Amino acid sequence: MKTVLITGVGKGIGKALKEKFLDEGYFVIGTFFTGRPDPQEHLKDFSLDLSNPASIASCATAITNFGRNIDILINCAGVLKDEDETSVVADKLRETLEVNLIGTIDFTQRLLPIMQDKGHIVNISSTAGSLMLTGKHASHLEGRYPAYKISKAALNMYTVTLAKQLDGQVTVSSVHPGWVKTDMGGEDADLTPEQSAEGIYNVAVSRPPTGGFWFAGESVPW
Ligand SMILES: NC(=O)c1ccc[n+]([C@@H]2O[C@H](COP(=O)([O-])OP(=O)(O)OC[C@H]3O[C@@H](n4cnc5c(N)ncnc54)[C@H](OP(=O)(O)O)[C@@H]3O)[C@@H](O)[C@H]2O)c1
Repeated sequence: MKTVLITGVGKGIGKALKEKFLDEGYFVIGTFFTGRPDPQEHLKDFSLDLSNPASIASCATAITNFGRNIDILINCAGVLKDEDETSVVADKLRETLEVNLIGTIDFTQRLLPIMQDKGHIVNISSTAGSLMLTGKHASHLEGRYPAYKISKAALNMYTVTLAKQLDGQVTVSSVHPGWVKTDMGGEDADLTPEQSAEGIYNVAVSRPPTGGFWFAGESVPW
């Protein structure tokens, strides 16, 4: 039985991903922050606060001691702290980077020793982090949430950097999940969490060229 580790399975896209991978016969290791564990067969939940280095260290140790190697790691947990801002607010940038970038990287680096050879690390990014698309196709994003955009652009650079470091031994991808009806995406979004999870699943179980940025089977410009 293959194992997927998904951060942020308590709600939104992470929860839909958890359900999709369970349906597909995976063992799912999930993390929750304010959410609650959800005991069921083939699922093990761990507490994780990506803004807290001690929590990251203890969660990574607990997952390592759990004893399963990871075939797929999906870094899905994320925050949008400056939805109503049109210029960078330093405190909100700091909070955003702690979760979306620094915590996510710290967590990932600690889990590299238990990544399965030929495994896949999927960083849930956003077209909001694309230097090419911002202000062009993503008009609803224009001039808004700069800290979030900066965090996702930097996460994309981590994808490229880690892909180089792992040199094909483990595939590393950034994936845009679409505009999704969650607490973060809001009710007007295009996709249900289940539709988004389907697309992310398809990328995660395939082995696209490492270091790419994907949405709905297509390459997204950086
Ligand atoms: N929704 C969209 O339209 C959209 C578009 C582009 C990209 N994305 C990206 O997709 C991912 C999932 O977003 P979503 O829409 O599902 O958002 P969401 O419904 O707001 O869920 C956010 C998830 O992140 C977890 N989380 C928040 N703060 C955390 C922390 N400090 N430590 C650990 N986990 C934390 C939450 O855990 P708890 O519930 O346990 O608190 C929750 O599971 C994010 O990376 C987001 O940036 C979303």
